[in-house]
Amino acid sequence: MIANNFSNVKLISIPQVIVKTIKEYQDEIIGFVFPIYGYAPPKMVNNFLKKTKFKAEYIFAIETCGGTILSSLYNLQQQALHLGYHIDYVAHLAMVSNYLPKFDINYEIKERLPKKNVKTNLDNIISDIKNFKHNKAEVSNKDRFITFLVKIGSKLVMNGKQAQNYIIDNKCNKCATCIKVCPVYNISFKDNINKEIIFSNKCEYCMACIHLCFENALHLKMRNQQYDD
Ligand SMILES: Cc1cc2nc3c(=O)[nH]c(=O)nc-3n(C[C@H](O)[C@H](O)[C@H](O)COP(=O)(O)O)c2cc1C
Ligand code: SF4
Ligand code: SF4
Repeated sequence: MIANNFSNVKLISIPQVIVKTIKEYQDEIIGFVFPIYGYAPPKMVNNFLKKTKFKAEYIFAIETCGGTILSSLYNLQQQALHLGYHIDYVAHLAMVSNYLPKFDINYEIKERLPKKNVKTNLDNIISDIKNFKHNKAEVSNKDRFITFLVKIGSKLVMNGKQAQNYIIDNKCNKCATCIKVCPVYNISFKDNINKEIIFSNKCEYCMACIHLCFENALHLKMRNQQYDD
């Protein structure tokens, strides 16, 4: 939707380019849009931001989130400075909280999402970007400290093997959608006869495979999380 407001936009998917050897992007405006996981960008996004050079007159970054970002935007701007570029404008956009271990997705969509004013907030962000607004994220010491603690905890939880605990029930029709949507190619069929689904050790915990399984056959082990509709 941001892209619709500009001409000659080139949309680039980080999961698709991260496996290539592109080292530099240069343009008048460059924008990053990504979700936050544990008050920080997903590992893949962080790797992309660290290993690529960006040159632009104006750079913006939008974090989609459930609603609590603590010092993630501040850390992002600091990291960019450290890497030799400027993120001129940062903002967060509260959307559906899709962290299944903690949130009931149906409640999130039906009860909490309508109160998040996503469209109005996004319109404000788009207007800011069109006006080349600058802003610097401010953060309290307390938020920085909590973010730091969560970062340590996340490293322990996000060891790449999370999906190996997922449950695949007998509704699975072997459609391979989960294999196709996984941004890190972490899912495959063990063989082409039984088509047993196996998970490797590169999981980023994005839960796209669970959310996008049309048969509702993939679940978290811890809560046997299911979609009812
Ligand atoms: C592993 C994981 C961790 C998350 N951590 C946070 C968080 O720290 N703060 C927050 O506000 N939302 C958090 N979320 C919610 C997502 O940032 C939010 O739902 C976002 O809109 C997801 O975007 P997507 O649908 O493009 O994946 C988390 C979601 C996941 C899956
Ligand atoms: S998307 Fe769901 S139904 Fe399709 S192969 Fe994966 S688990 Fe099975
Ligand atoms: S949660 Fe599923 S889709 Fe996401 S990285 Fe892990 S295996 Fe892939």
